Formats: sequence, structure tokens, C-alpha cells
Amino acid sequence: MWTKESLKKAIEKQLGDYLLIIVSNREPYSHMYKKGKISWQRAAGGVVTALDPVMKACSGLWIAHGSGDADKKTVDKNDRVQVPPDDPKYTLHRVWLTKEEEDGYYYGFANEAIWPLSHISYTRPKFEETDWRMYEAVNRKFADAILKEIGDRKAFVWIQDYHMALLPKFLKEAKGNNIITAHFWHIPWPNPEVFRICPKRKEILEGLLENDLLGFHLRYHCENFMATVEKEMEARIDRERFSIVRGGHETLIRPFPIGVDHEYIKHLSESKEVKHYMEGLKEEFSLDYEFIMLGLDRIDYTKGILERLRAVDRFVEKYPEYKKKFIFIQMGRLSRIHIPAYKNLNDEINALVEEINWKHSEEGWAPILFVRRHLSYSEVVAFYKLANICVISPLHDGMNLVAKEYVSTHTDGSGVLVLSQFTGSYRELEDAIIINPYDTEDFADKLKMAVTMNKRESKSRMAKMRKQVASNNIYRWSGKILSELLKFEFKE
Ligand code: G6P
Repeated sequence: MWTKESLKKAIEKQLGDYLLIIVSNREPYSHMYKKGKISWQRAAGGVVTALDPVMKACSGLWIAHGSGDADKKTVDKNDRVQVPPDDPKYTLHRVWLTKEEEDGYYYGFANEAIWPLSHISYTRPKFEETDWRMYEAVNRKFADAILKEIGDRKAFVWIQDYHMALLPKFLKEAKGNNIITAHFWHIPWPNPEVFRICPKRKEILEGLLENDLLGFHLRYHCENFMATVEKEMEARIDRERFSIVRGGHETLIRPFPIGVDHEYIKHLSESKEVKHYMEGLKEEFSLDYEFIMLGLDRIDYTKGILERLRAVDRFVEKYPEYKKKFIFIQMGRLSRIHIPAYKNLNDEINALVEEINWKHSEEGWAPILFVRRHLSYSEVVAFYKLANICVISPLHDGMNLVAKEYVSTHTDGSGVLVLSQFTGSYRELEDAIIINPYDTEDFADKLKMAVTMNKRESKSRMAKMRKQVASNNIYRWSGKILSELLKFEFKE
């Protein structure tokens, strides 16, 4: 079993004197002003959750966009800060973006073009030439920051996600012999039919094919990527080696399904702090019900939040005997709110919650509680523990770590997971109750199945899922990618 210690040993052994740099858009820690004082926060979201333990284990360097309003105040003259701020273990180098750059690159091309294109959830991608130019410019900015950090040394660079498709090309053009790159694409890769509408498809593929290693969560996404390249580019697809050769350069394509820090979550979930939060939340929200169902997401149209609420509505309609016996808590973190599709979704969720609650409310009870305040990770874990049912219903999701986190927190083997068949995690968590979020009728029946499942069955399902989540943990994921990356040799 991979652990923090074995990951650390593997990195030390293979990395030698070379540098290891991680690059992502989202920074792991941001500083902000609160009541006139500087405070800090660890970012939520899959990528940070996954990579923070890796960086802690190898004391590496992380380069990311400095987005907190007090970020500039806390860096040194080289734009660096040691993190975590309360117990420094590695270096964060912040890259500054102008408002225009953030608009075009992050809100624009990354999140209004590539995100909807990759998640087939029927939100139309928007391709604006000006957004593309900013995307290109910001990728260059990240490349410059990395090149400055590397100087004349040799470095392994591990690039994260769809914000950085052009970065490998810029790095290799500048210092091909000194840099070896792995790139992990944390979201799905669509099939060639979907991808071919993208006006910048050639540029994106050219960028990605400069990597030495390119990873996706699932073999299915790897195959989609290879099929896309086959349709769009002059390149040789080597199905034996599972690689693509273009202009004499080979890119290995590999599936690496991401996991969570199971041991850490397990310990945290048994801590006094979490117990204390559980008591507090119970009291604050009067959670005195036989069944507590939980949904927890960034407010994003790929997460199937409206579909989930409709299923809850149908569940109450069909099985009114559960009125007042259950509550459905939807936790939502606002996200990418400057994009109209996100703002509209937020409004739609508000309206639907109102409508459903009005329709079914009785003597002070209403089926849905929508909570949107910022929660610390310990509070999130407290919510997971309080929930005897967790409902995860994305329309499409590369992996979905909420599913795995929920499983990790249920140390006593209780809890039922209801999971969309369109998540990557569904492939590993087959003992969840599987739903199609588009099928409201069946979804409502599956909620009924969740509340009526006998303890023996739910315990046996949870035990199998816990075994899977424990063994395919975050250290295994990063260990596998880094072992593969560190095998590459620098050209002389
Ligand atoms: C997805 C992406 C990540 C991103 C996260 C949160 O999981 O793959 O790269 O960090 O969403 O989104 P945000 O836009 O808030 O960083």
C-alpha cells in the first residue's frame, strides 16, 4: 500500500538532484484580508486536495496563479512564499494575472470553451478569439515563471489540467533538453466528434503532444484522446506502447485514476474537532431526522444539482411516508460566478429549492436545506459523517473525489453512497447505488432503495468500497505518475 512515507522515499530515490515543479492554475494556499488583517485559506477542489500532500512529501516547488487579495503582501521579492503558512513544507511561486488575462484565459477559454467541450453536459462551448489570445499569453507567462526558476538546471515539470494545454510546447521550445514534462488532464477527454468543433483543436493537440507523459483518469479518456489525434493530426498512434509519436517525439498516454488521502481523512473523521462540529451542525440545522441525505459540490452545471433536486422532489411525491423523516442537505460552494452559465445555474437552484420546499412543506418541515457558507475541511467531514446517505449525480465528471471522501469518513462502516454512472469514480465504486441523473423516476426509486437498504447490505457494500478507496489512495496516484515521469532521461 502506498503511504506518504513510501511516496517520499520513491521521490527521493528517483529524483536525485533534479528539480520537481508542479504547475496549476489554482494555488494551494491564498492570503486574503479579513477584518483588516491578513489571513489565509487552503483551496478546496480536487487538484489541490490531491497535490498538497505530494508537495509536502517532497518539499518541492509549486507555481500557480496568485488570486488572493493579500497574496502580493505575503511573497518575497521573487514572488515566493513558504506554505502551508502555519507549518511551511514547500515553496509556492505566485504568478500574477491582470483582470483582462484572468477574464480571457480562466473565465474565457479554459472555462467557457474547454470545460464545456470536455464535459458533455449540453452547455454550449464559447470560442472567442480574444479569449484564446489571453489563454496563449497566460500559458507563456507561466512558462516564463518556470524557466526563470529552472535557470540552467534540469527539471521535471508536472503540469496540471486544461488551463495549461500550451505550456508543454512553450517549455520545450525554450529548453527541450533540460525539461521533462508530465501533464495530468483532470477532466474527461471527449470523443473526436465532440472535440472537432473546437477551432483551436490543432493548437491544443500540438501543445499536449510536446509532453513526455500525458495522463487521464480513465483508459476510456486515453482512448478518446488517441482517436482524436488520429483524426486531427499527422501522427503515429502506437497501440502496443500506448503512445503517440509526432515529429520524432513520443508521448506516453496513461490512465491514472486519482484517489484521496484516505488515512488522513480517516483520522480526521475520528477527531474530537470533527465530533465537536457534528454536534454544532446538528444543533444549528436541527438535524433530528432518521435520514440525512447530503449533496456537496461546487455550483457547476456538470454536477447534476438540478437533476438531484428533481429526484428529491419526485421521491417525496412518490413516497410521502418519508415526509418529516428525512432532510436533503445541499452544500454548494459558489464557483466561476462571472460566467453567465454559472450565475444562471445558481439562480435556477435557488428557484427550484424554493419551489420544491413550498410544494412539500408541512408543519415547519421542508425537504431541502441549501447551505452555501464557506466550510472548513473539518466541517465538511462533519457533514459527511452526519449523512447516512450521500448523493452524487454529475452529468459527467472525470473522477469525483467527493464520492471517495464520503467513503473514507465512514470509519464505522455505515452510510450509503448514491452515485452517477457518468463519474470516473463509478468504475471503482461499483458497490454504490448507481443512478442515471437524467432518469428522474429511477433516481427517485434509488433514493427509496437507499433509505430502505438493510444494515447488513449497506455495511457489506461500504466495506468493499472502503477497501478500494484505501488501496487506490492519493499517494498511489502520485507515486505512479512520478515513477513513470522520473524514469525519463534528460537528453545530452
Ligand atoms: C476541477 C478542475 C480543477 C479545478 C477545480 C476547481 O476539478 O479539474 O483544475 O481546480 O475544478 O475549479 P476552480 O475553477 O475553482 O479552480
